[in-house]
Amino acid sequence: MKNGKFVTLGIETSCDETAAAVTADGRTVLSDIISSQIDVHEAFGGVVPEIASRHHLTQINAVIGAALSEAEVTWRDIDLVGCTCGPGLVGAVLIGLSTAKAVAYAASKPFVGVHHIKGHVCASYLNTLNPDGLTELHAIRPPHLALVVSGGHTDLIDVRSYTEYKLLGSTRDDAAGEAFDKVARALGLGYPGGPKVDAIAAEGDPESVKFKRVYLEEGSLDFSFSGIKTGVLNYMNTERQAGRDVNACDVAAGFEASVVDVVAAKARAALRRTGYGKLTMGGGVAANSMLRARMEAVCAEESAELYVPPPVYCTDNAAMIACAAYYQYRADGPSPLGLDAYATLPLNEKF
Ligand SMILES: Nc1ncnc2c1ncn2[C@@H]1O[C@H](COP(=O)(O)OP(=O)(O)OP(=O)(O)O)[C@@H](O)[C@H]1O
Ligand SMILES: [Mg+2]
Repeated sequence: MKNGKFVTLGIETSCDETAAAVTADGRTVLSDIISSQIDVHEAFGGVVPEIASRHHLTQINAVIGAALSEAEVTWRDIDLVGCTCGPGLVGAVLIGLSTAKAVAYAASKPFVGVHHIKGHVCASYLNTLNPDGLTELHAIRPPHLALVVSGGHTDLIDVRSYTEYKLLGSTRDDAAGEAFDKVARALGLGYPGGPKVDAIAAEGDPESVKFKRVYLEEGSLDFSFSGIKTGVLNYMNTERQAGRDVNACDVAAGFEASVVDVVAAKARAALRRTGYGKLTMGGGVAANSMLRARMEAVCAEESAELYVPPPVYCTDNAAMIACAAYYQYRADGPSPLGLDAYATLPLNEKF
C-alpha cells in the first residue's frame, strides 16, 4: 500500500515488448516502461521467437527496476505482482512469468497470472496522472462489449464483469494485425506493417482497388482475414505480370477498407445483440485511423459510447496487465506459483 492505494506491479513479455508497470487501485498508471525489440526483429521481417526470449532475459530486470523507480515505490509498497501467463510465444511468456513468480516469492507478495487478451480489454480502464498529479478518471465499467484487434487476435467479447468474459466471435484464421503485417510485407513496407499501411492508406483511394469482404455465415460474429491477404497478393501478381504499375497507396487503402467494413459490421451486430450501448477497443490495430473513425461513426449511429485507449495502451504494455491482475486478485485471489506459461489459452481459464 502507498498513500492508502493498492499497488500492483504488472509484467508483460508475451511477444516482442519487455514491459513492466505499476498501477494504483488497478486503474491509475504510476509508471509504464516498455522496451521494444522492433529494431531487433525488423531485419527478419517479423518476430523471431528465440531472439525475443533472449532479449526479454537481458532486459527484464532493468525494466522492472525502472518501473518501480519511476512510480516512486519500493518492493515494500507492492501489494501484488501480476504477469501474462499466455497466450503468446511460450518461450517469451516464460521469461516474464518466471521472473514475476521469483520476485513475488522473494518479496513475499501475492502473484496472479493474467490472460493477455483480458489485459487488452483492461487497457480501456487505465488512467494516467496529469503533470499536476491529479487523475482524470473516466467512467468505463463493465458490462460492455469489447473489440480486441491485435497481432494474434480478433475477438468480440461480452465483458459481463471485471472477471467474467464471454467470447462472442473470433478469427477462424489470420488475425487483423497479422493481415496488416502480411500485406505490408507484400507491399515492401517492412515490419511492423500496420502503422505503415495505415500511413500510406491515408494517401490512397479505398474505392480504386476493391477486395472481397468475408462475412461468413448469417449471424456469425467470427472473422476470416486470410482470404483478404491472398486477394491482395493475387491482385499484385496479376498487375505486375500484365506490366502495370501497382499503386501501393490505393492497394493499402482498398485492403484497409475491406478489413474495416467487416470489423465494423460485426461490431455493430454484437452491439445490437448485447444491447450494452458501450464498446471498448484494444490491441494494436485499434490504433488504426480508418478503423477508429469508422467505429466512431458506427457507435454514433447505434447511440453507443465508444472508448479507445491512447495508442501506447493499445499495443502491448504492462499497465493493462497490472489492471487486469488487480481485478482478478480481488475476485479470485492469488494464482499458484506453479502456474505454467501457455501458447494458447481459453478466455475463461481460471488460474
Ligand atoms: N495503426 C495501425 N494500423 C493497423 N494495424 C496496426 C497499427 N498499429 C499497430 N498495428 C498492428 O497491431 C499489431 C500489434 O498489436 P499488439 O501489440 O496488440 O499485438 P500482439 O501483442 O502481437 O498480439 P496479441 O495481443 O494478439 O498476442 C501488429 O500486427 C501491428 O501491425
Ligand atoms: Mg498483445
